Amino acid sequence: MEDDVLDRLGNGQGLSKIIEDVFKRLLDDPRVKNRFRGRDIEQIKQGFTEYLQSLFTKNSNMYTGLPLSEIFAGLGITKHEVDVFFYHLEEAASDAAVSHTTIQTVLTTLSSLRSEVEGK
Ligand code: HEM
Repeated sequence: MEDDVLDRLGNGQGLSKIIEDVFKRLLDDPRVKNRFRGRDIEQIKQGFTEYLQSLFTKNSNMYTGLPLSEIFAGLGITKHEVDVFFYHLEEAASDAAVSHTTIQTVLTTLSSLRSEVEGK
């Protein structure tokens, strides 16, 4: 079932195309773009992609970065900013012809990580 999600996202190539698009949208959106100022966008894209792959792969851990709780400690990311992030992810995946059901599965899984990303 989990591997199936990655298949439906287009695996390596399809997924990186979607992530490219997500970050293009984020960097173009005045509600969140300042969050990425001075950050290494290529590194974030790669880390986020690996993180997604780890979430939906049973037998390997592709993500080698810090835990989300450490990355996001002190950044004060709001619930609204996470909503914006999810919105762009949904749009990019939908444009890539990923089905509504698969997009909802991804968003539900990512929603369970809100408490690690959002500032208290
Ligand atoms: C569930 C939602 C999210 C997940 C799973 C997630 C995941 C990640 C991961 C894995 C990294 C580390 C990349 C690396 O290896 O360096 C990262 C970094 C980062 N993310 Fe997120 N992210 C989420 C939401 C957001 C939102 C909503 C924002 C801002 C609007 C954001 C902004 C950032 C920034 C600025 C960094 C770099 C931090 C640094 O350089 O220290 N993320 N994210």
